[in-house]
Amino acid sequence: MAYFRWRRAIELAALDRPWVGELLLRRRFEKPKFTPPEGWNAEYERGEYDRLVRTEQRHHHRLLAGLITDGRQATKVLEIGCGEGVFLESLKSHQGVTYLGVDISSVAIERARVRFAKEIAAGTVRFDVGDGSAYPAQKNFDAIVFPECIEYLDDIVEVMDHYACFLNTGGQIGLSQWMGARPLRLWRRLKAWGKVTNQAVVSADWGGAWLVATLAPRRD
Ligand SMILES: C[S@@+](CC[C@H](N)C(=O)[O-])C[C@H]1O[C@@H](n2cnc3c(N)ncnc32)[C@H](O)[C@@H]1O
Repeated sequence: MAYFRWRRAIELAALDRPWVGELLLRRRFEKPKFTPPEGWNAEYERGEYDRLVRTEQRHHHRLLAGLITDGRQATKVLEIGCGEGVFLESLKSHQGVTYLGVDISSVAIERARVRFAKEIAAGTVRFDVGDGSAYPAQKNFDAIVFPECIEYLDDIVEVMDHYACFLNTGGQIGLSQWMGARPLRLWRRLKAWGKVTNQAVVSADWGGAWLVATLAPRRD
């Protein structure tokens, strides 16, 4: 706990001072480059993401779900990097949600399909295996979200340009992300790409902290 709290102090400082992140977070917390689907499958099979289901790991999901549904009677959501569908656990308590979740890991998607079998049967939820860097969404959405996922995708501006085409008028991009050096670098590029409509930091008692944000493409 002490370690995570110490890390959180640095992450918060790095949010407005990029040099702090580059100096103190870069080497130690730099995350992987591209991992192939088999790599993600193996991690899911080893149970490395079981912790994501725990309630103290999901405050950022709850906030993001609230932000994208706020003021809407019905919300069509595309989630990229949905894993086992844990974000949908938070989203489904909001009314009028229809949802498509995409992940590169077939193991994670199979688990999501079991977890949400009832909603899939009702026709409100669907899961698909696919590469989230350029998923051919086909339909339009009110929100396209990337919870803890942006750092695993291709060039973030190209990815956002791709998905902006699948947003309804007034639609939003949503993300949540831990605040390592690489995600913060991506966040700065995203702020230049879109208009930030919400930005907050969610922090858990054990020391975890996530940046949660929504953006509108500048074309709106
Ligand atoms: C840290 S997990 C987060 C899972 C989930 N979004 C959450 O917040 O609980 C990152 C997820 O991104 C997925 N992922 C990584 N690269 C991807 C890609 N290119 N396309 C789609 N999903 C990807 C992984 O399989 C994994 O499920």
